Amino acid sequence: MAQTAEAVTDAVDLTGKTALVTGINSGIGSETMRVLALRGARVIGTARTLEKARETCLGTDGDCVPVACELTDQSSIRSCVAEVQAMDRPLDIVVANAGIMALPELQQVNGIEAQFATNHLGHFLLITSLLDQIRSANAARVVIVSSAAHMQAPSAGIEFDNLSGERGYSSWKAYGQSKLANVLFANSLSRRLPDHATANSLHPGLISTNLGRNMHRGLATVALGVVMFPFMISIPKGAATSCYVATHPDLEGVRGRYFADCAQKRAHRLASDIELQDRLWETSESLTG
Ligand SMILES: NC(=O)c1ccc[n+]([C@@H]2O[C@H](COP(=O)([O-])OP(=O)(O)OC[C@H]3O[C@@H](n4cnc5c(N)ncnc54)[C@H](OP(=O)(O)O)[C@@H]3O)[C@@H](O)[C@H]2O)c1
Repeated sequence: MAQTAEAVTDAVDLTGKTALVTGINSGIGSETMRVLALRGARVIGTARTLEKARETCLGTDGDCVPVACELTDQSSIRSCVAEVQAMDRPLDIVVANAGIMALPELQQVNGIEAQFATNHLGHFLLITSLLDQIRSANAARVVIVSSAAHMQAPSAGIEFDNLSGERGYSSWKAYGQSKLANVLFANSLSRRLPDHATANSLHPGLISTNLGRNMHRGLATVALGVVMFPFMISIPKGAATSCYVATHPDLEGVRGRYFADCAQKRAHRLASDIELQDRLWETSESLTG
C-alpha cells in the first residue's frame, strides 16, 4: 500500500535547508513543496509565471518563495537562476518536477520537440546553471521526476537526428524519450557531482493530475478514466517518492538510481549507457548555449 509524502518524511527535519521545486502550481509539485515546507525547509517554488507561483506559495504553510521559471524560455530560466543565486544560499534539494505529456500534435520550442525541450532541456539548463549552489550544500540531492513511460522511448533511446520531431512524431514515444532523457541526465549528473551531492530519478506513480490536459479528450477519458483508474493513487501519495528520494536518511550517498513506490527499481537498459549519457549531456549543452 502506497504511503503519503507526509508519512515517508515523518522523521525528517529540514530546518535550515533550502529546496527548489519546479511546477509547484499543480499536481504533485504543489504537494512536494507543501511537504518539504512542512518539514522545515525554505522552498523556492517555481511556476511558469510569478503570479501562479505567488498564488500557490501564499496558499501553502511554511517558508515558500515564489519565482517565475518558464522552462521553454531560456531567458526566463536565466532570470530564475539569477534570482536564486542572489539568495546566496546553498541548495540542499532540487526537485525537477514540472512536465508536459503526450502532446497530440508535434509542437516545437526553438525547433526542438516541445516535450524534450520542456521536460529535459529546460531542467538541464536550470540545474547545470545552479551547480555552484548545489555543490556548496553539505549533502545536496537533485531529484529528477521521470516516469515509467521512459520505457516507451524510441529503440535508440534518444533520436539525436530527430530532436525536432520533423522526421517522425509519435506523442507517447516523444514523451518517453523526454522521460528517458530525465533518467540519463540524473545518472550523468550523479557522476559529475562531488561525493557529498547526489542525483537520482523516479516514477511518481499514476496520479490523477492536470498532466493529461494536452491529450486528445477521448483518449484521455479512456486511458486515464478507464484503463489506468484502478492503478491510480492520490496526489498526497503521488508526491511520496519525490519527497522520499529528496529527504530520506536511508538514501544518504545513494546516486544514479531510479525509484518508484519509494524503492529502487530497474530503469531502461540504456539508462546506464555512459556513451549515451555523455552524448545527451554534450547535445544539451550545445542546445542551451
Ligand atoms: N501524473 C502522473 O500520473 C505522472 C506519472 C508519471 C510521471 N509524472 C511526472 O510528474 C511530474 C508532475 O506532473 P503532474 O502529474 O503533477 O502534472 P501537472 O498537474 O500537469 O503539473 C505539471 C506542472 O508542470 C508545469 N509546467 C508545464 N509546462 C511547463 C513549462 N513550460 N515551464 C514551467 N513549468 C511547466 C505546469 O505548469 P502549468 O500548470 O502552468 O502548465 C505544472 O505546474 C511531471 O514531470 C510528469 O511527467 C506524472
